[in-house]
Amino acid sequence: MDFRFGPLGKHVLFTNQKLKMKRSVDDDADEGPSLKRSRQEAAVKATGDDQGTTSDLNSTKKRKMCFLDLDSDDIRSAKKVCVEVPQYRSTCSWRTPLAKLWEMFLNIPRCLCRLFYRNECFKSLYNVGKKLKKGGCGTVHKGTRKRDGKKVAVKFINKKDREEYLTFPGTSVMLPLEVALHLIVSRPPVSEHVVELLEWFDQPERIILVMEYPAPCMDMYAYMKSVVGGALTEDTARSVMRQVVLACQHCRDRGVAHRDIKGENLLVQTDTMKVKLIDFGCGDLLKNEPYKKFAGTCLYYPPECFQLGKYSSQTATIWSLGVLLFTLVNKKLPFRSVHHICHRPKLVFKSGVSKECKKLICWCLNRNARARPTLEEMLQNDWMTNGIHLEPQS
Ligand SMILES: Nc1ncnc2c1ncn2[C@@H]1O[C@H](COP(=O)(O)OP(=O)(O)OP(=O)(O)O)[C@@H](O)[C@H]1O
Ligand SMILES: [Mg+2]
Repeated sequence: MDFRFGPLGKHVLFTNQKLKMKRSVDDDADEGPSLKRSRQEAAVKATGDDQGTTSDLNSTKKRKMCFLDLDSDDIRSAKKVCVEVPQYRSTCSWRTPLAKLWEMFLNIPRCLCRLFYRNECFKSLYNVGKKLKKGGCGTVHKGTRKRDGKKVAVKFINKKDREEYLTFPGTSVMLPLEVALHLIVSRPPVSEHVVELLEWFDQPERIILVMEYPAPCMDMYAYMKSVVGGALTEDTARSVMRQVVLACQHCRDRGVAHRDIKGENLLVQTDTMKVKLIDFGCGDLLKNEPYKKFAGTCLYYPPECFQLGKYSSQTATIWSLGVLLFTLVNKKLPFRSVHHICHRPKLVFKSGVSKECKKLICWCLNRNARARPTLEEMLQNDWMTNGIHLEPQS
C-alpha cells in the first residue's frame, strides 16, 4: 500500500491504483439469524409507520393500502438507517477486552497529537462560514481556504455516528469508512459528477471533511422545492439521470457502493445544471456476495431487502435510480412504506409522464432484481438517449 501524505501530513492520498481493503469491524458473513431479524426490524421501524412489520411482509395476508400522494415534506421525511449492532461483532482474539485496552494504550500518543495538532491545523487552514445544512449524520458549512480564498464545503461528523473504519493490509492505518470511500472516488481521474473530497481532518471528537463546493448549487430536493416548485420536466430529469448514472458508474468502477442515491444526496449547479453526487456516509466497498446490512434511506430500498434480508448493491442501486426518476418527474415518492414496497399496487404516475419514461421507471422498479437494467442499459435506453438538456429549468 502506497500512501502520500500532504503538506503537514494532514491528508492522505491514495497513489496505488489497485487498493485492496478489508473491513475492520463488521463482517456480514458472521451474522446469525437473530441479527438479521434485528436489522430488518430496525429498518422497518425507521419507516415511522406501522404499515409493514417484517412478519407482515412474510405473511400472505395483504393489507388494504390507500396510496397517498406525498408532498415535498413527505419526501424530506424519508428516513435514513445505519443499523449497527455492536454486540454481534467478531470476537476473535485480537478484539478481546485486553487487546482493546492494549490498542487504546498504543493509541495515546496518536490521540495527543490529534488533540494538540490537528485542531489547530484545521483552524489555521480554513475559515468556517454559514451552516448549509444539518444532515442525519453531520453538519455541512460553507468554508474558505485561507491560502487562496477557495470556497469549500466543510462537513463535521461526530465520531460516535461513524463507527466503521477501513484498515489497509500491511499498514496500521485505519480510515473512517466515509472518508476512505470518498477518497477512493476522488482519486484522479476524478468524475465531474462526484463531489471531490479535498482533504480531511481527524479530531478527537469529530471528523472534518473538506469538499469541493460547486457554487451556485443546492441539493436536488431543495432545487425541486424552491426553484422549480414541483416536478422536473422530462428533459431536465433525463439530463439529471444521465449524470447520476455516470456518477454511479464511476463509483462502481472504483469499487465503491454508494447505497444512498436520492435527491438530497445530489447537488445541482443551478447555472449549468451539472449534477454531482455527495455523501458516502452509507457506502461500502463493492463486493460480489450479497449485503446483509441495511444502509441508506428506507423508502429507496428494494423489496428483496425486506423479503430476503439481503441484496446486491448493483441491483439495489438500479432500484433506487428508479425511485429517484419517479420522484423527479412526479414530485412524490413511489412508495410510502415498507409494506407498500413489498406488496406494491400499480404505480400511480402524474398525468403527462411519457410512456417511455414510465417504461424505464417500471424496468428499474422490477420486483425481480435480475430483470432490472444495468447502468449501461440505462444509458442506452430510448428515453435516456432522447436528446440531452443542460439548460436550467425556468
Ligand atoms: N460539497 C457540498 N457542497 C454544497 N452543499 C453540500 C455539500 N455536501 C453536502 N451539502 C449539503 O449538506 C446536506 C447534507 O450533506 P450530507 O448528505 O453529506 O450529510 P449527511 O449528514 O450524511 O446527510 P443525511 O444523513 O441527511 O443524508 C446535503 O443535502 C447538501 O444540501
Ligand atoms: Mg445525505
